[in-house]
Amino acid sequence: MLKFAPSILAADFCRLGEQIHAAESAGADMIHLDIMDGHFVPNLSFGVDIAKASKKACSLVHDAHLMVTHPEHYLDDFIGIGVEIIAFHLEIDGVKNDLGEGRWVYELPDIIDTDRIMNVIGRIKAAGAKAGLTLNPPSDITRAVPFLDEIDLLLLMSVNPGFAGQGFMDTVYEKLTFADAFRRDNHLSFEIMVDGGVDLTNAADLHTAGADILVSGSAFFKSPDFNDFVRRLKS
Ligand code: DX5
Ligand code: ZN
Repeated sequence: MLKFAPSILAADFCRLGEQIHAAESAGADMIHLDIMDGHFVPNLSFGVDIAKASKKACSLVHDAHLMVTHPEHYLDDFIGIGVEIIAFHLEIDGVKNDLGEGRWVYELPDIIDTDRIMNVIGRIKAAGAKAGLTLNPPSDITRAVPFLDEIDLLLLMSVNPGFAGQGFMDTVYEKLTFADAFRRDNHLSFEIMVDGGVDLTNAADLHTAGADILVSGSAFFKSPDFNDFVRRLKS
């Protein structure tokens, strides 16, 4: 069964509680928290206080998508308020690729600091949360293989992270197909989430290609009827 995680980054922050309740009653399965540090991605979003307010507003599982260079600094805060899933990026030791117009994306370094990645995963799990690993669009999925038997969630980005409302990048399909086959062949049980530019035109194809959880920000929060959106996304 496909799960839906609305990204509150695209919600109306003046009516955040109301929008979270509406998402919950429309059938959302999780709440997706986009945490940005202005360094790993070219934007700031919100921190643990807003996450805490969201946790208080509804009982759904929350996943924190940490678009930050130093996830180690924030793990205790998010896990401490009860966020159930913490995802961080494989590119945290990566190379900044300047895209122009004030945008950038971090890409994988030649050598990944495996100890650091394993340490963050280990800390998340030791604290009782689920560990997620996230890949930016330019990153080759095979570089994540050494970590796939350690994680609970693989988060595949279908936009360069930093902003809601960007166009969907269909290069995610190749990664999705690889990850889905890899977990089947290796009897692994991590879930696969796709995030960025997801809407009603690509949801079914993403699910067919192996996505278990779809994140949607703009398409969902701008839709005129939340209930209808969730029903159609899952059908
Ligand atoms: C991008 C975020 C996404 C995004 C989702 O940096 O991680 O969660 O905001 O929003 P839409 O669905 O509008 O792309
Ligand atoms: Zn996200």
